[in-house]
Formats: sequence, C-alpha cells, structure tokens
Amino acid sequence: MLGILGVGHLATTMLTGLTRSGLRPADILLSPRGHGPRLAKAQGYGLALDNADLVARADMVLLAVRPADAAAAVVGLPWRAGQVLMSACAGVPVAVLSAAAPGAQIVRIMPMTAAEIGRSPTVMFPDEPGAHALIQRLGPVIALPAEADFETATVSAAVYGWAQDLISRTAAWSAEQGLDPAASRLLVARTFEAAGAMIAESPLPTDRLLAELVTPGGITERGLQVLQQAGQPQAWLAACHAVQDKLRG
Ligand SMILES: NC(=O)c1ccc[n+]([C@@H]2O[C@H](COP(=O)([O-])OP(=O)(O)OC[C@H]3O[C@@H](n4cnc5c(N)ncnc54)[C@H](OP(=O)(O)O)[C@@H]3O)[C@@H](O)[C@H]2O)c1
Repeated sequence: MLGILGVGHLATTMLTGLTRSGLRPADILLSPRGHGPRLAKAQGYGLALDNADLVARADMVLLAVRPADAAAAVVGLPWRAGQVLMSACAGVPVAVLSAAAPGAQIVRIMPMTAAEIGRSPTVMFPDEPGAHALIQRLGPVIALPAEADFETATVSAAVYGWAQDLISRTAAWSAEQGLDPAASRLLVARTFEAAGAMIAESPLPTDRLLAELVTPGGITERGLQVLQQAGQPQAWLAACHAVQDKLRG
C-alpha cells in the first residue's frame, strides 16, 4: 500500500500518472486533507482517518506537503524501522526528516508535473529499489550519489517552469503575428521537446550539436546575438544560482 501524505497539486498529478501506469487506486491511501477526500470519493483511492492511520497502514509513504509543513506533518507518527518515507518537498534535507520520523528510511525525489503523462525526469537520493520502481512509472529516474548533488539537480524543477514560460511567450508572440494559436502552441512545444530529445539521445558534446545548427550569418546566430546583448546567458545562470541558494537555505 502506498500512502500519500499531502494531496495538493503535485500529488494529484502523480496520482494520475500512477493510475495511468496501472497502479490500482485501491492500493493507494490518501491523507484526509486537500484534494484527498474528493479524489478518494471520485476515483476509488483509500482515505486514511488521519496521518497516523496512513503511516500505520502504508508500506511506503510519499510526503507532498509544502516544505515549511514537512517536519510538522511527519512528527509523532507510528513510523516502523526501515519504512520508506519518500519526500518531494523542495529544500528539506534528509536530516530534518530523519529527526522528525525516527526509524523511517528517507528518500528524496523531485518530480515534475509531467508525472501526470509519465514523462517526469525525477531525481532521487539516495537510490532505493522500491521507491525507484514506483517513481519509474512516472518517467525516467535519475539517481544521484550525494545530497548536495540532489540540491543542485532540484534547480531543474524550476527550469521546467521557465521552459514552460518561454514556450508560452513564444507561442503567444507567434499568434500575435497571425499564426493560428493552436498550431503555434503545438509547434513551439514540440520544438522544445525536439531540442531536449536531441541532446538527451545524441552522444555528441552539446557545443558541437549547437555548432552544427548555427549557420554563420543565419537566423539562429542572429537571435543568439540579440539574446547576448540583452544579458544572456548570464541572466539565466544567475537565476539558476538564486534557486540553488534558496534550496541551500
Ligand atoms: N507543484 C509542483 O510542481 C512541485 C514539483 C516538485 C516538488 N513539489 C513539492 O511538493 C510539495 C507540495 O507542493 P504542491 O504544489 O502540491 O502544494 P499544495 O498544492 O499546497 O499541496 C500541499 C497539500 O498538503 C496538505 N497538507 C499540509 N499539511 C498537511 C498535513 N499535516 N497533513 C495532511 N495534509 C497536509 C495541504 O492541505 P490543506 O489544503 O488542507 O492545507 C495541501 O493539500 C512541496 O513541498 C513542493 O516543494 C511541488
């Protein structure tokens, strides 16, 4: 039985992805706050009486409350030795959760809302077989060897949002120029997907892939010049640093 403690936006997308992958709603137990009661009634998930009941009945618990609520949400619950507590809470260290849930084995994950469609690249620390098998239902798992790496990797969860912002603005710009809005949205979204897929699947260094597509005097070069004059890539890298600093507290 998988228990989900904190049924808000993220957990809802993960639930959709998990059931889509074939997990039965009856094998998932929700905490009775947020979207928990509504989803249990509508989709057939189990509903715990309270968080203690959830921990007592679950083999593994996914924690998806806001970071500021994480420690308080798990303290004083009946954790069993070795029971996996998998936290999606950004910036909440293993040590904080271990102190609040003594005996539980803490695993950190950082899923993206694309979990809903089985396409979330999810970082994990430490790698734990049961958690790994579960999260792999939602997309590729990238296990990391150290918590400091996990914090750096969490910046990608913010980059996911920035990419969506860029897609949205580029699609809106194209539509303003007269392109059909639906065609524009699909084209820009698939362009970002294609750019990522090429880098993910090609063995070539990324600077070489880019060099191959930047024709001297061509349109990609022209746009890169304008972006550089406007402060790129420094502005983007400054945003990455700012998020990393926030995650490190
Ligand atoms: N959103 C994302 O795309 C995303 C991606 C990766 C990681 N995360 C992480 O996921 C976590 C949740 O984010 P979110 O966007 O899903 O937030 P959210 O929509 O605010 O959901 C949090 C839920 O936790 C519930 N909750 C709080 N304390 C609780 C407790 N003691 N017992 C049971 N339920 C409790 C809240 O219930 P009430 O409504 O009753 O207060 C709310 O439904 C955050 O830590 C965030 O860092 C989010």
